[in-house]
Amino acid sequence: TRTQVGIIGAGPAGLVLARLLALAGIDSVVLEARDRGYIEARVRAGVLEAPSVELLREAGVAARLDREGMPHTGIALRFAEAPGEAAADHRIDFADLVGTGITVYGQQEVVKDLLADRIDEAGLPVEFEVSEVALHDLTTDAPSITYTSADGTSCVLHCDVVAGCDGFHGVSRPAVAAGGELTVAERVYPFGWLGVLARAAPTTDELVYAHHDNGFALYSMRSPEVTRLYLQVGADADPGDWSERRIWDELATRLACDGFTLNEGEFLEKPSVTPMRSMVAAPMRRGRLFLAGDSAHIVPPTGAKGMNLAIADVRVLADAIAGFYRTGSETGFDEYSATCLRRVWRAEHFSWFMTSMLHRFAPDTEAGDAFGVGLQRSQLRYAATSRAAATSLAENYVGLPHGAV
Ligand code: FAD
Ligand code: DHB
Repeated sequence: TRTQVGIIGAGPAGLVLARLLALAGIDSVVLEARDRGYIEARVRAGVLEAPSVELLREAGVAARLDREGMPHTGIALRFAEAPGEAAADHRIDFADLVGTGITVYGQQEVVKDLLADRIDEAGLPVEFEVSEVALHDLTTDAPSITYTSADGTSCVLHCDVVAGCDGFHGVSRPAVAAGGELTVAERVYPFGWLGVLARAAPTTDELVYAHHDNGFALYSMRSPEVTRLYLQVGADADPGDWSERRIWDELATRLACDGFTLNEGEFLEKPSVTPMRSMVAAPMRRGRLFLAGDSAHIVPPTGAKGMNLAIADVRVLADAIAGFYRTGSETGFDEYSATCLRRVWRAEHFSWFMTSMLHRFAPDTEAGDAFGVGLQRSQLRYAATSRAAATSLAENYVGLPHGAV
């Protein structure tokens, strides 16, 4: 078969790209390793930046997002100003500071909406359960993708452009590396997040980022009936060591604050641990293969940037591809990596900053000794009390306008 753009991966990057290309009249085929039910149920990120919401609206796939998404105009930083003191909330007021906000809407809901639009409405191709995906002739203008389809058939997809939207564990980044020019910049953190989804009504209107001696905790939500919670745990923590009782008790300890109640409820999925890392691969291109989203970069989740970066990348890529078909010019291809990496590095810095400010590091390390914790408390207080510091946090959290970084 032949198409114009072969897209590997049906996550936010691949599916938003497919939609933007369809709007520009460009054909694509999406190849996905998993089945539809699996990717529609995969619980991950939940925060959409303002520019991501605007893009999904412009792309005509935000009807349910506009109905069910929860607009938030601030977050709370919850911390004790000195050792031994009780924690208090310090609100970062996005609306006041930067005139906009974020929308809480599960990543898998974004994925469901995009799949319904592409498959059920438009009848365009997504091939699920493909395996043995391999990329060929990337440095020519006629690249191809070979794979085995769900029914075991060997297939070849010929295209003009390959979009590597296959996440951290995909085949695309190794295919760029095989060209010999890929550099990888990386930080691995000595902790992970244990994520919980519970049938429990959230008791606050906004997200709470809590700094606590036992470690970081995050209070988030998915709907007026469902709470999403995270606990900092060891990088190699076994979820089996975390009973429901232990999780609720630890959440209660770390989130304790005057006037705050933690509603408990049935777990809606088995808790799992996500390891935390920062990673930037550059360049995000080899010939006609372009990396987008987690295949090119990873952020720790503290800044809520992962899904948003994926969306920002593919907006740049869709424009570059549309420019190529309109004029034959490859300028957009040549500028793609540098353009994306400016925003990627801003998000890398912000995610590292939020992670460093909020997590408990081992007491025998520079980040976690008395001096390190003193710096954290000072940074938290500065963000909570200085309009300049709060504005910087707010501007990064809600997302700089696409093209502005
Ligand atoms: P993905 O969503 O990973 O999509 C890649 C797709 O490619 C997948 O569907 C995969 O099945 C498919 N694929 C992989 N290999 C192949 C192949 N060889 N052939 C075909 N298809 C392939 N971010 C936050 O901000 N907050 C969070 O709480 C948070 N939690 C997370 C929890 C987990 C367990 C993970 C993995 C990520 C989390 N993230 C979180 C990050 C966020 O979800 C990602 O940044 C986002 O999914 C990136 O989108 P993507 O489309 O680039 O990649
Ligand atoms: C959620 C995840 C995040 O990483 C974050 O910073 C805020 C919220 C969430 O899943 O709701």
